[in-house]
Amino acid sequence: MQDAHSHSAISQSPVWQALQEQAAQLKRRRLADLFAGDPQRASDFSLELPQFLLDFSKNHIDRSVFVNLLRLAEEAGLDQWRADLFAGEPINVTEGRPVLHPALRGGLAEDLEIGGVSVTGGVEAELQRLKELVVLLHNGALTGCSGKRITDVVNLGVGGSHLGPQTAIEALRAYRKGDVAVHFVSNVDGAQLTDVLVGLDAESTLFIVSSKTFTTSETMTNARSALKWLQRAAPDEAVEVLLQRHFVGVTASPEKAQQFGILPERTYRFWDWVGGRYSLWSVIGLPIAIACGFENFRALLDGAADMDHHFREAPFAQNAPVIMALLSVWYCTFMGYPAHAVLPYDQALHMLPAYLQQADMESNGKSTNRAGVEVDYATGPLIWGQTGINGQHAFYQYLHQSPEVVPADFIGSVTAGHDLEGHHEILLANMFAQSQALMNGVDAESVGRELAAKGLSQEEIKRLTPFKVHRGGKPSNTILLKELDPRSLGGLIALYEHKIFVQGVILQIYSFDQWGVELGKGLASKLEPKLAAADLADEDDSTAQLIEYYRRNKCG
Ligand code: F6P
Repeated sequence: MQDAHSHSAISQSPVWQALQEQAAQLKRRRLADLFAGDPQRASDFSLELPQFLLDFSKNHIDRSVFVNLLRLAEEAGLDQWRADLFAGEPINVTEGRPVLHPALRGGLAEDLEIGGVSVTGGVEAELQRLKELVVLLHNGALTGCSGKRITDVVNLGVGGSHLGPQTAIEALRAYRKGDVAVHFVSNVDGAQLTDVLVGLDAESTLFIVSSKTFTTSETMTNARSALKWLQRAAPDEAVEVLLQRHFVGVTASPEKAQQFGILPERTYRFWDWVGGRYSLWSVIGLPIAIACGFENFRALLDGAADMDHHFREAPFAQNAPVIMALLSVWYCTFMGYPAHAVLPYDQALHMLPAYLQQADMESNGKSTNRAGVEVDYATGPLIWGQTGINGQHAFYQYLHQSPEVVPADFIGSVTAGHDLEGHHEILLANMFAQSQALMNGVDAESVGRELAAKGLSQEEIKRLTPFKVHRGGKPSNTILLKELDPRSLGGLIALYEHKIFVQGVILQIYSFDQWGVELGKGLASKLEPKLAAADLADEDDSTAQLIEYYRRNKCG
């Protein structure tokens, strides 16, 4: 494994310095000129994999920058870090754990043992148990206390225990199987649980308590309220029986699920070597298997394993996650563009920006390097976005004409996920047009010609031109899937996972812990009892004032 103590600051390396100089030069070069000077640019700065085309030609790089970025990956020891990831080395150093989500989808080159137990064997055994549960549910053989068939499943989980499953289910709308409805409650705001429960029959509802730790206060609060809802509907039923018949646990702490009252045979486990935000491939994916069928869940895993194989084997220059990571580092760290937009032109991928926000920002939103020293450069970007067409009528104005540059990923599919005539062509034409417009912009001369053609006077043209000029030069990647299906979705998500890992390696930060999230959690549990009463002398004036206002105005 990499020795954390043999750290040498990458920002002092010659290739880093060279890239800094190139960043200043490339900022001044027009993207259109980069194309004009290099006829092979579009094809050479693209990568075709079995499931998709990645076109990264609309970026502020030339061949020399690309070579230096690849050298940066070598300088960062990416080869060794990648080998360590797949070998199960404890690369999550601050938590002392391996990072083995590829093992959940058959993505390792060979099996590993942890504590003398086969990793792949354990994964497969748990997947088989999951499959059996899905079959029971789909056959109508799983019943609640009253003997009624389970028709509705509510996933109670937050962060990685929610976003992955719901993102995948939304993306795979066209692949739904069975007639069990799946619902999600992630927010501790009781409004969400209330809304979901309104339409449900307690006798035919099953709750999945989905939590790696089984201690997350939001999820456990929702689980306890769900139990109370069941009790209200069946006051004569013993609590133990309600828990046994209406709850399933999905967790890396099975003993805690059982302490809560969930049966061991209804507890599905994963392992502490799976990060929460990388866990959708584990039994955390149970809602996906229920909504889309186990075979489609398996195809999702297979697609991710394809990407693991690609990431493990392809040379850096033809390695999609490596290239996307290098571009991200190039923009955020060298060019000083702190944000990155994710713009799916596919309604089914509407949750992808939210999913990637957690995956990326919880991983690389850090400022301490592996030597424990504050970094002197920007690390991971702010990730944001939404479906493209809606975004076009919301924030694209900013993308086109604000002085800021926000690199973007456009994501779409060749094949439509529906059969309505004409829609898909309009959608894709918009996607292609937007990346083109962002790249090329419109100069004053073209604006003048356009206005003159409309018959405007010279005076009017002069007045309007500055407002209609688009500077252009806004970079983007386009990922064009052949089709959005379980396999390509698995590959797409795994592409981003590995990209995030590579960024962390290059930036010399640890991507697999999340201490920043822990701080707020601790403070919330300390403040919660203070909302009712207690002395606020220990609190800062602003927080004390907010709590006092709350106490004064709280009804009842
Ligand atoms: O948001 C912080 C976090 O720790 C995530 O990493 C995790 O996915 C989420 O909380 C939920 O945690 P758990 O699955 O343990 O309930």
